[in-house]
Amino acid sequence: MTNIIKPKPGIMDIELYVGGKSHAVGVENTVKLSSNENPFGPSPKAKDAYIKQSDSLAVYPSSDHSALRLAIAENNGLNAEQIICGNGSDEIITFLCQAFASVGDEVLFTEHGFGMYRICALGVGATPIVALEKERVTNVDALIDCCTANTKLIFVANPNNPTGTFIPLSEIERLINGVPENTVVVLDGAYAEYIEGYDGGAKLVEKYENVVMTRTFSKIYGLGGLRVGWGYASPVIIDILSRLRGPFNINRAALSAATAAVNDEEYVKNCLLHNRNLGDFLINEIRNLGFKCDDTFANFILPRFSDEKQADAVNDTLEKDGLIVRQVKGYNLHNCLRITIGKEADCFRIIASLKKFKGSPL
Ligand SMILES: Cc1ncc(COP(=O)(O)O)c(C=O)c1O
Repeated sequence: MTNIIKPKPGIMDIELYVGGKSHAVGVENTVKLSSNENPFGPSPKAKDAYIKQSDSLAVYPSSDHSALRLAIAENNGLNAEQIICGNGSDEIITFLCQAFASVGDEVLFTEHGFGMYRICALGVGATPIVALEKERVTNVDALIDCCTANTKLIFVANPNNPTGTFIPLSEIERLINGVPENTVVVLDGAYAEYIEGYDGGAKLVEKYENVVMTRTFSKIYGLGGLRVGWGYASPVIIDILSRLRGPFNINRAALSAATAAVNDEEYVKNCLLHNRNLGDFLINEIRNLGFKCDDTFANFILPRFSDEKQADAVNDTLEKDGLIVRQVKGYNLHNCLRITIGKEADCFRIIASLKKFKGSPL
């Protein structure tokens, strides 16, 4: 009775997603810097809102997410009717693939693009196509060259994970104008809040019917554990995606916490300031130690080592020192490690450990 149960074509091509490690065996005082979480967690107001929901656990959550959509709209200058909320932005990515791609279609993304694009494309039987980047930066010309009549979706994370690099909105608009107007272009803004004044592409959504922006509460809002994300798109795309959304896809505690989080602008501002200062500190120190590292536009850095062997050795040293970072071999970045910008003490520990590795004085 073997070989009887078979999934649809494409499913067995999906490699299981490997998340950031959270433990190092036998090491004490570990800190997890492997999943780009906010080291300070969420706003205290979000925590209070979450706890208050413990009195209403028997009651189904809102199915139209109106309070959360309104709060997102007000705080970002958007139209609430054009927002769809998901169980993490992963769910919005899933809806997009379910809605727009199928067998024989292509889903295009960048060389070091976020892993869920491939998983979701294969999940619906579509063919993932990869456009090369230029020195770890999204290359619009390569994306346009790879776009064919079969390309139904293009995903661009800006800033990108795991590279941390960013391209200006003028480049994104050049991409939109360089592809057919029935190809859906998704601007993944999971890290958009880390760039002050950047709208994640919202204005482009309002200008072009085929453009979608996705955002998340998992990063600067510190709510990765609750799973809340959202998408912003033209009414026609929101209508399509809404047909796929389960009525209660976000639980009431998560809705409540996310609403409080997006209303606490001051908290987000402080997290942003902290992230920028410590990001600059880490990158400077790392470069002073002789390692290469691009500027970052997000809450993580991606130092590059001489080769995979050295990256593995640095990873071992960090892990023994209780610092759990992310290996990014699955993103074809074998000589790199992705390190979330943690609290100040975590950043000092990273540098001390790297100095130890180099044999430099601490
Ligand atoms: C670029 C990018 N997009 C989307 C996501 C998914 O975020 P979530 O599903 O937690 O909203 C992540 C998470 O790491 C990401 O890095």
